[in-house]
Amino acid sequence: MTLTPRFPRFLHGGDYNPDQWLKDPEILEEDIRLMKEAKVNCVSLGIFAWAQLEPEEGVYDFAWMDRVIGRLWEAGIRVDLATPSGARPAWLAQKYPEVLRVDEYFRRHHFGGRHNHCPSSPVFREKVRAIDTALAQRYAGHPAVILWHISNEFSGDCRCPLCQEKWRQFLRDRYGSLEALNDHWWTGFWSMRYTDWAQVESPSPIGQDANPAMWVDWRRFSTKQCGDFILMEKEALRSVDPSVPVTVNMMQRFWDYDYFDLAETVDVVSWDSYPLWGTDDLRAASEHAMTHDLMRSLKDRPFLLMESTPSLVNWHQVNKIKRPGMHLLSSMLPLAHGAQSVMYFQWRKGRGGAEMFHGAVVGHDGTDRTRTFRGVCEVGEALQKLAPLYDRPEREAKVCILFDYPNWWALDYAQMGRKGAMHYDETVNAYYRAFWEQGYAVDFRDSRRFDPESGYGIVVAPMLFMLRDGIEEKLRAFVRRGGTLVMTYCGGVISEDGLAFTGQVPHALTDVLGIRTEELDALCDGEANRMTWDGNTYALTELCELIHADTAEVLSAYEDDYTAGTPCLTRHAYGEGTAYYLAAQAEETFLHAFFRRLAEEKAIPRALDADLPKGVVAQKRGNAVFVQNYGGAAQEIALPGRFTDLLTGAAFDGKASVPARGVLVLTGNDD
Ligand code: GLA
Ligand code: ZN
Repeated sequence: MTLTPRFPRFLHGGDYNPDQWLKDPEILEEDIRLMKEAKVNCVSLGIFAWAQLEPEEGVYDFAWMDRVIGRLWEAGIRVDLATPSGARPAWLAQKYPEVLRVDEYFRRHHFGGRHNHCPSSPVFREKVRAIDTALAQRYAGHPAVILWHISNEFSGDCRCPLCQEKWRQFLRDRYGSLEALNDHWWTGFWSMRYTDWAQVESPSPIGQDANPAMWVDWRRFSTKQCGDFILMEKEALRSVDPSVPVTVNMMQRFWDYDYFDLAETVDVVSWDSYPLWGTDDLRAASEHAMTHDLMRSLKDRPFLLMESTPSLVNWHQVNKIKRPGMHLLSSMLPLAHGAQSVMYFQWRKGRGGAEMFHGAVVGHDGTDRTRTFRGVCEVGEALQKLAPLYDRPEREAKVCILFDYPNWWALDYAQMGRKGAMHYDETVNAYYRAFWEQGYAVDFRDSRRFDPESGYGIVVAPMLFMLRDGIEEKLRAFVRRGGTLVMTYCGGVISEDGLAFTGQVPHALTDVLGIRTEELDALCDGEANRMTWDGNTYALTELCELIHADTAEVLSAYEDDYTAGTPCLTRHAYGEGTAYYLAAQAEETFLHAFFRRLAEEKAIPRALDADLPKGVVAQKRGNAVFVQNYGGAAQEIALPGRFTDLLTGAAFDGKASVPARGVLVLTGNDD
């Protein structure tokens, strides 16, 4: 399937800001010449161009954009056209201060920066709708325009009086009455009971700051505010021409909004990926591979890599340039996971502004004689060679990890265990990494979207603290029909509305798991307990739960401290399937060995039927296997048969050498 029907190819290009260079018209021609050299076929245009497009209120200047799009089209370069709402012109903020955001201290911000509007402001909405409509009327029918890029990296929230009113309305819709709100937020505690809707304000460090259920609702509200704003922009574009798909560029796993919900507002999922290469590259790759799989999972479809850096960024603590090989390797990672593009921030480096030293395809020297430019050309060529894989994104994952935003928020707001260090995201990444490093494809689902009948062999539910409505029945059905479920510590403690379950924990799953949990102990950094499984001893850190194995078989017990001898890892047969419970955070080598065992029991195939050396990973897309070496030395690998590398044409029989920071895209000679 294609995400961009007007141009069904791998997209190669990036953020392009000719609006910053209007005083130097030759730059446009030079850019187009260089783009063709680098095999760039698509640029994201106008992302922050509002001040150029509407220099005065109601006065539009499209002449420069007409020229740019026209010249790009003549050169065969497509356009991902942005709405400019990511940053507003000064005149707008000056005349209508209500468009500016109010922060958690109830301070109205001043003009400046970006991504800081009020999503409720009727004036802001009207102005955005007007310019979006004008853009759509002018360009939606242009053959160069293949995609709408709504705004840029939505983030944060506003607490102005208009947003407070929306918040109260959101709560009215959710709870029906103040009485019900009081019950769900347990406001009997600390005399927090509300007697008038007007008393209800957003959470704030100088106000209501400590109620977890309220905070989780605030995140739900924030997600809704952002989604409503996206829908408003989408509607403005669609009312002119519904044929061009719409995307927003997302950011990693981004905690502020529920990306599963937000993805429903757009046609195409895209995201901006900026790994810090040059320290632990395998770890960085696993973190970004996880997000690629999350992005693919949001709609169960391919996704776009909307931004990445061709060299370095300027906002990491330490900004490293890419080592030889890393640009091609890191550009192949999203493709291995289903991306239909490799796009960059940014095409040409500006001479000033906050990002004047951020990496770009074309630097201040303005030439093609750089390592970065040559690296980009290499990716452009690779994308052409990989064209046969374009509409072959199937991954057929047999492993599903539950990754649930309300659960994440609830754990972080719960005020228990390890303050500010519950590490849900890191834990999910560790579980993912155990599968990913061994070549097992993984889907992500949240509790709401998980379907017990989608054919998964293994479902892992790490730290599933909040049991959203329906998930217990779904997990039960999954195990009953033969699935393997792995639940872990902190599981099944609170309900979707944030209240602790009364009775045994994990609520309504105790009979499936054959255990019940009693206490949660938190360990300081550097402290550890131990357990032994299958002949090896593993460290247990951070969170250790005391559990009772009522009917489950104890596979492993704690070995240290007064908990020695009490269960830590259990197995329970239920229906046709098996449910495991892991009561503590176990080190990564355990997760590798344990998940490998479960996957073998379920006969789940790996991308490549071969054991690869540490640092080398394989992922399958269609009939091709992307073998990636994140290590600093070449590695010999064994291959199960004869293969050809799509990138170089090299043929391999039974073995291959993968260069340091190198990548092979192998197809079997029988395919
Ligand atoms: C984000 C933004 C871009 C730019 C890059 C820099 O992804 O969307 O506008 O600021 O970061 O890395
Ligand atoms: Zn507001």
